Amino acid sequence: MLRLFLILTTVFALTASSFIPAENSKSKDDLSGRIVGGKLTDISKHPHQISMRYKGCTTCSFNHRCGGSIVTPNIILTAAHCVNTIKDAKLLHVVAGSNERNGHGSIVPVKKIIYHEDYQKNVRYENDIAILVLEIELVLNDYDIKTIKMTEKRPSQNEISQITGWGTTTQGGYPSDFLLEVDVPIVSNADCESRYGIGRINQSMLCAGAVKGGKDACQGDSGGPLLVNGVLAGVVSWGNGCARPEYPGVYASVADLRTWIDATIKANS
Ligand code: ARG
Repeated sequence: MLRLFLILTTVFALTASSFIPAENSKSKDDLSGRIVGGKLTDISKHPHQISMRYKGCTTCSFNHRCGGSIVTPNIILTAAHCVNTIKDAKLLHVVAGSNERNGHGSIVPVKKIIYHEDYQKNVRYENDIAILVLEIELVLNDYDIKTIKMTEKRPSQNEISQITGWGTTTQGGYPSDFLLEVDVPIVSNADCESRYGIGRINQSMLCAGAVKGGKDACQGDSGGPLLVNGVLAGVVSWGNGCARPEYPGVYASVADLRTWIDATIKANS
């Protein structure tokens, strides 16, 4: 009887394990293959990172949708494509100071969504920038909720940038429950355009990606920060798949969108 039980449980275990996706069987500490080449980080190292959460239906709860960055206590910088289809700002929350994708933190409702009026005017994803005006100011601290400085100057080719988020850890894979970070070199717009095709990369965009691939932002990281020397230089925007050597990640270029960003913040503060 005991032998039969053992045989049956073994058979069950073998069968079940072949149905569990590899990603799920990884523990929090096993970082191999995590975020398309990234590593576990902590919100205290990226205290400007927020999780934008969206309530997709009346009975739904707020769920992580995109990343974003705190630029003033009541203004979040994010991507236009994260918010352009959202009808009502009440359906959005911003969560600051959280390590986990759907974990606890300072939750603040959004008062107003403003995205670039020339978003996708002539080129797909051009001017992919937006701000969220918060209903109340975030209470900043010296630890896990802080503003980030925005760059005035476009980063140059090969400078190392740092990207963070709770997005999927492989192309078409599962999102990460914990905040991940990865370093990727800046790719020139000319090089980037030669890969994506003439006219697809314009001045409002910035590219970054490892020559060998394997490191990138992915679905769910959108709207989140790309830092160069600790300053905000890009906003996660788009890419062809994720972490493919032939296709760098594409970001909205903060330096090139500064005029719009500054004017829009000023008009809403
Ligand atoms: N559009 C995606 C999002 O909404 C982000 C894509 C970034 N892709 C990339 N390969 N870098 O989350």
